[in-house]
Amino acid sequence: MKGVILAGGLGSRLRPLTLVTNKHLLPVYDQPMIHFPIQCLLNAGIKDILIVTGGDHAGDFLRLLRNGKHLGLRHLEFAYQEGEGGIADALRLAEDFADRGKICVVLGDNIIEGNIRKASGDYFTQPTGAKVLLKKVPDPERFGVARFEGAPGQGRIAEIIEKPAKAPSDYAVTGIYFYDDAVFDMCNSLKPSDRGELEITDVNNFYLERGDLSYEILDGWWTDAGTIESLHRASNLVANGGANHLSLPAKPATAGARA
Ligand code: DAU
Repeated sequence: MKGVILAGGLGSRLRPLTLVTNKHLLPVYDQPMIHFPIQCLLNAGIKDILIVTGGDHAGDFLRLLRNGKHLGLRHLEFAYQEGEGGIADALRLAEDFADRGKICVVLGDNIIEGNIRKASGDYFTQPTGAKVLLKKVPDPERFGVARFEGAPGQGRIAEIIEKPAKAPSDYAVTGIYFYDDAVFDMCNSLKPSDRGELEITDVNNFYLERGDLSYEILDGWWTDAGTIESLHRASNLVANGGANHLSLPAKPATAGARA
């Protein structure tokens, strides 16, 4: 399975920090943010990765990550998203890379303590459809939220609601998704939401309508890092240990050195 990291968008909630760099290059404790979704995929054995980015600082990803070999990647590609059309708009750029295979998509500002290897293995044996990972949170209104048919956290998901005024459960849909190749037709058929974006929640609801969306509850802590508060929290969580810390070489290679 291949991996796709979505690291576009303008990071407007992190201004002024994002006026001179891309949000996903900002530090989370001792690493650039983008290292964490890379490590998340590597921990699941996924070494072929596409990073979708955009904005004025896209070239800096290449300077930081080069060909990714020093991080343990087998293959690293980049795609450029024009504007900030939403998560599903960024995902459309992964169609050729996915080459009709299954993909694991990680939002570039999501950081987890645990490992998605089990979920990845489970999805691999799922014949078709998609899988989302949920996490119980104290502030579900900030996220896509699952409404369950039965008790929250159990049974079938009836619907996913993006940033509801009143959350139907405490289970947020994290920014880690597994999709088959039907995802690209779905992304291409979407209409922009009220905030002018192609919403990944609409894609997940398409899969739900088909009866082809599974879910698992993520172990360990999970946070996004897209606001000043959550970026600060992410740094603290990483500093206190346990995150998907990238096993960087003790002495990073200098720019221009052979990989
Ligand atoms: O973090 C999980 C949440 O992420 C989910 O619960 C929500 O359902 C989902 O919509 C998303 O919510 P946010 O409003 O927090 O997403 P945000 O706009 O902050 O974008 C998250 C990442 O997606 C961002 O770090 C980079 C990527 N992205 C986003 C946009 C809008 C792109 O690559 N391109 C884009 O145009």
